[in-house]
Amino acid sequence: MIAGKQLIILVLDIALSAIVIVAFAWVVASTRRPTAQSAVQSGGYRLRRSWGWFYGVLLAGAFTATIWSIPYAWAQPAQGSSDPLVVHVVAHQFSFTMPQRLPADRLIKFVVTSSDVNHGFGIYDPQGRLLGQVQAMPDYSNVFYFTFRQPGTYTIRCMELCGVGHSDMFQKLAIYPTQTGSSAASLPGE
Ligand code: CUA
Repeated sequence: MIAGKQLIILVLDIALSAIVIVAFAWVVASTRRPTAQSAVQSGGYRLRRSWGWFYGVLLAGAFTATIWSIPYAWAQPAQGSSDPLVVHVVAHQFSFTMPQRLPADRLIKFVVTSSDVNHGFGIYDPQGRLLGQVQAMPDYSNVFYFTFRQPGTYTIRCMELCGVGHSDMFQKLAIYPTQTGSSAASLPGE
């Protein structure tokens, strides 16, 4: 049964396809009688110039409109949070060596590396949405700041094809509510 968004997409697809078919038919019909190059050249150049301006303005507009939402500024650790919880992550074929439990509402400084090949380190929330990711590279440590806002069972997934076991390279991460005080920094399994 096609309904809702699918129906809209189907109708749009048929409408756009019809426009393309009409355009092709027009081109085919218009080429029956040959025209001298000189008769169409200046018009062609004018069209090309307009097309160039159209895309130039479109790209500049899209750039100006979207540059402000680039997340780099607010992805930095917040002011005053100079005491992140440092968590070392080592990726291997095909698992992660890292704590299985971490506190919520605490700035965490993930220091991510790999013992063999390139992997990815992706954090997924309990609903399966990707919250952040960084590469896990051999002989190099990538630093990645993250704060878990909600307690729950998160999933860490490898995000780079790293061998036959890549699709099985994921594990659970329990995020527990932060206790009052600073005892959260002592982590089991670390
Ligand atoms: Cu590790 Cu894919």
